[in-house]
Amino acid sequence: MANINTIKPSYVSKPFIVAAVIVLFTGSFIGAVWMMTIFNIGVPQWFGQLFQQHKILQIDGFLTLLIMGVGYMIVPRFRNVSLPFVKYAYLSFFIVLASLIIEIVTLLQTSIFADKISFTLIVITTLRVSGIVIFVTIIFLTLKIRPKRLRVSDYFIALSVVTLLIMNIFELSQMSGIVYSKEDTAAPRITAAGDSLTHIELWLLFPIVMIFGIEYKTLPSFLGFIRPRSIIGLSSFILTLSCVIIGFLSMMFETQIPALQSIFNIIFFTSVITFTLSIYAFCGFDNSEIIRLIKGEKKIRYNLTVLHVKISFFLLLLGIFISILFGISYGQDRETYRFALYDLAVHTIAIGFIGTTISLYLPLMLPPITGKTIQFTNLNRIPLLLIVSSLGLRAVGDIIIAQGNSVSNLVSQSTSLPTMKILSISLGLSSWFVVIAMIVFVITLHRSMK
Ligand code: HEM
Repeated sequence: MANINTIKPSYVSKPFIVAAVIVLFTGSFIGAVWMMTIFNIGVPQWFGQLFQQHKILQIDGFLTLLIMGVGYMIVPRFRNVSLPFVKYAYLSFFIVLASLIIEIVTLLQTSIFADKISFTLIVITTLRVSGIVIFVTIIFLTLKIRPKRLRVSDYFIALSVVTLLIMNIFELSQMSGIVYSKEDTAAPRITAAGDSLTHIELWLLFPIVMIFGIEYKTLPSFLGFIRPRSIIGLSSFILTLSCVIIGFLSMMFETQIPALQSIFNIIFFTSVITFTLSIYAFCGFDNSEIIRLIKGEKKIRYNLTVLHVKISFFLLLLGIFISILFGISYGQDRETYRFALYDLAVHTIAIGFIGTTISLYLPLMLPPITGKTIQFTNLNRIPLLLIVSSLGLRAVGDIIIAQGNSVSNLVSQSTSLPTMKILSISLGLSSWFVVIAMIVFVITLHRSMK
């Protein structure tokens, strides 16, 4: 990664990254309040209407803006060229951000948009799709320039941006009733509000595959100046591609062929295992000599990277394993058990893998954007500790929820006992650890900038 600073900085990514972090904060804040209500902690009534914004802010906002910003920076950097059509890249930023703001206002002001809400949402999604089409076009034009080595990384990046585009086009066709309309009873459902878990996992796949593209190129060389295992890397890409295809089929035919969901998750699990083998994430490479030789900030940076990579991939595999359990429980009338698996699968992957990986890579990616170097200190461990403890407490909370026959009266019953009341309050508040982790992360980042 030493060569990153010698390449031309691309400031075009900055607004994307800054907007993504602000939207993530807002979305996680709403999520943390939502978690409090699940554990019977009172919040102002009006806050309830914000809960549906959580998914929009986290997926249409945070993940989409982040991956566009990272794509615009990393793809030219991997081939040592500057980004073409920078003006259109900025245009794609304003279009996607505008579509997000209009969508949130529209859903907050349903009374005003009452009779034309679905038309408004179709216009908004068309707007977002047009911004993403600009992004995909610029990325593919840049990918046409062959990199000196490790082409497999480009395959992952190309698959990630195509998945982002198809998911948005699918959302648009769903809204306009071309495929399942929201009201269609045959459409896969799990919670009154929520989409099927496969649908959410496909949304989480485009950032995951982009991360694969970046880590395939950068991690082995950082871990030990070695190359990734190319054959295993290529097979991981083929598995990930099949996983995306099966995922779309599962989303379309989940009620007709429920087994597709388990097949999707088993292929997903295998593609991740294969990928970790190709980049030596868990084993296969003796770094004891390197650890003995490096000192000071370099040693802290090295150990933190190894720790983040191991924990993030463990949580990704755990999240997919929980999704497999969810698929196996398909059709069982165990609402709370399935809700608990759904919640844990989504957030173990979203916060555990994507959140942890971002907290590792953002400090490494920021110098070209800010023109300042970042020093790693042991304080950088705190956000990781808070994320893992919050997910741990969330798991305890979901295991308790899974025991009940309905989410609401379980919590009301349990909070009658003083000990359960304390437990319920701590579980309800545990998600604020993630919000605190973000605040600590931003503070340590600013303090470590030179
Ligand atoms: C502080 C961090 C977060 C908290 C406290 C939080 C909390 C929640 C809660 C309480 C729910 C409702 C229960 C459920 O359906 O699972 C939920 C749903 C959801 N969250 Fe989060 N969340 C957080 C971060 C994230 C992130 C980072 C993402 C994605 C990048 C995300 C994506 C989702 C999705 C997709 C749903 C399902 C919504 C639906 O079914 O309509 N969350 N979250």
